[in-house]
Amino acid sequence: MQTNNRRPMVAGNWKMNGDKSLINEIQSTFAQANLTDMDWVICPPAPYLGLFSDSTKIGAQNVSQFDSGAHTGEVSVSMLKEFDCGYVIVGHSERREDNHESDDIVAEKVAKILEANLTPILCFGEPESIREEGDLFSYLSVQLDAVISKVGIKQFTKIVLAYEPIWAIGTGKTASPQQAQEVHKFVRDYLAKQDENVASGINILYGGSVKGSNAEELFSQADVDGGLIGGASLKPEDFLNICLAANQLG
Ligand code: PGA
Repeated sequence: MQTNNRRPMVAGNWKMNGDKSLINEIQSTFAQANLTDMDWVICPPAPYLGLFSDSTKIGAQNVSQFDSGAHTGEVSVSMLKEFDCGYVIVGHSERREDNHESDDIVAEKVAKILEANLTPILCFGEPESIREEGDLFSYLSVQLDAVISKVGIKQFTKIVLAYEPIWAIGTGKTASPQQAQEVHKFVRDYLAKQDENVASGINILYGGSVKGSNAEELFSQADVDGGLIGGASLKPEDFLNICLAANQLG
């Protein structure tokens, strides 16, 4: 049990994985679970957003920064709202890289998501080269500053942050609990310089090779409020164990 007022959260990022049968498996695995002290969210590929039962919180993996129009392949915030989608992952390193999403585009998307009263799960994190020989904290603060200057610090009460070191994503190489805590504390202190209430209330999730076996140790760090889970969110039992680890903190 942690001493802050933050409600732990775990989000499953299916990426371009999963199918209709996984939706059923997840829902039946979680049907009897007693997760009263945390929030869990599934972020499936867009075509599956409408297929979950009402009791499952769902999030999108992406949204357009535009309202509508000639943007082939994109999905708008109003479409997400029609499917009771409450969250949107934004700034994931895979989209920053594969789709060339700059800090400015990420900031525009966060603004659009907030305007629609959805909750952005804003990802940030460094490549291995920066951790080894760069200035880690200034690298991360540039990513955060782009959003702070676009939407203002007060809006961060409506944002969930996810620290995702790129070298730990899908590699099996998890950040140690101490490495995660060091960054999460840096971020909380960084935000506190601008607004203490925002800093103490914001959920900062950790993402990068979280599994049932390492979740408890990561989540027990003072500034780690849950996780953004890729690979393990495709395994219902493992994902449930991760959620149970978060539930213990609540
Ligand atoms: P992973 O992915 O858990 O498979 O490392 C995390 C993420 O990319 O959100």
